[in-house]
Amino acid sequence: MEKEITILKPSDMHLHLRQGDMLKTTVGDAETWFAQGVVMPNTLPPINTPDRLAAYRDDILSLAPDFKPIMSFKLYPGMSADAVKAMKASGALLGKLYPAGVTTNSEDGVKSWHDIKDALRAMCDLDLVLSIHCETPDAFVLDREYEYHREFAEIAKAFPDLRMVFEHMSDRRSVDFVASLSGRVAGTITAHHLLLTLDDVIGANMNPHTFCKPVVKGPEDRKALRQAAFSGDKKFFFGSDSAPHLKAKKESGSAGGGIYSSPCAVPLMAELFEKNGRLDKFENFMSVYGPAFYGLPAATSRITLVQKNSTIPPVIDGIVPLCAGKTLSWALKA
Ligand code: DOR
Ligand code: ZN
Repeated sequence: MEKEITILKPSDMHLHLRQGDMLKTTVGDAETWFAQGVVMPNTLPPINTPDRLAAYRDDILSLAPDFKPIMSFKLYPGMSADAVKAMKASGALLGKLYPAGVTTNSEDGVKSWHDIKDALRAMCDLDLVLSIHCETPDAFVLDREYEYHREFAEIAKAFPDLRMVFEHMSDRRSVDFVASLSGRVAGTITAHHLLLTLDDVIGANMNPHTFCKPVVKGPEDRKALRQAAFSGDKKFFFGSDSAPHLKAKKESGSAGGGIYSSPCAVPLMAELFEKNGRLDKFENFMSVYGPAFYGLPAATSRITLVQKNSTIPPVIDGIVPLCAGKTLSWALKA
């Protein structure tokens, strides 16, 4: 008989759905594989007012009624406590801190956490989650994440009750760092940081489709991230950071960071956990620990994967997905 894996439908605790034409593609793929997902606010204009949040949520739900968007807002310098309160009232569960200039559409981000003190105090009082892109923009690219630890620790110390997510961990030193902090700090891990190293970006020909922020790092970093994902520690859970950019832009000579993984991340993760003999930890990592950290229920529905080969398309609606052209060994059971 064909081998099968049945798990609670996964939750993607970090993804970029974009806007306009792309939204249809991204929410469709997200809805296929995920019951819910934390929707990032780095749109243009950013999701930082109640009206924009409501309109974005409506757009998502109109295209994918079975996908539950967990809405975030983008923190901005000088954001007031009242503005945070209004975002919570409109349905946001988290605020996202982008250091200024660190990644796609973050020029309006935060230079120092001191510039968002009032907002962080309000988030603490309102029990909102603080999600952080942990990189210091002007540090050496491979040390950017590590260099951010100090800022992260300062925020954690100043707001001892604030729940904080160290997003898309990429550096082995971050795994130890997050593990060393209290239970109100967690870290997301992406499929691409679990699968790729810098060799996949610049080892042979330069490949813009594996370029993301934070950049994927060395084999020891990937090994530490895998250990965290396989550990069964509820601090570590899946967040794809699926972030599509059009193929033409990626290949233009000025590629933005971002990898589109929504269509293939779940079967790729099934394969990784299976090959490492850790399928017993798969469901908690993909479907349970993330929502639990946010105080949300896991999905009530389940998905079943069957062992069956298929090829990841080279291009999906003008976007080159993660592992394009490669063979997947697990497929969604009809
Ligand atoms: O690779 C990334 N792409 N990292 C981010 O932090 C942002 C994202 C995007 O929005 O393109
Ligand atoms: Zn992201």
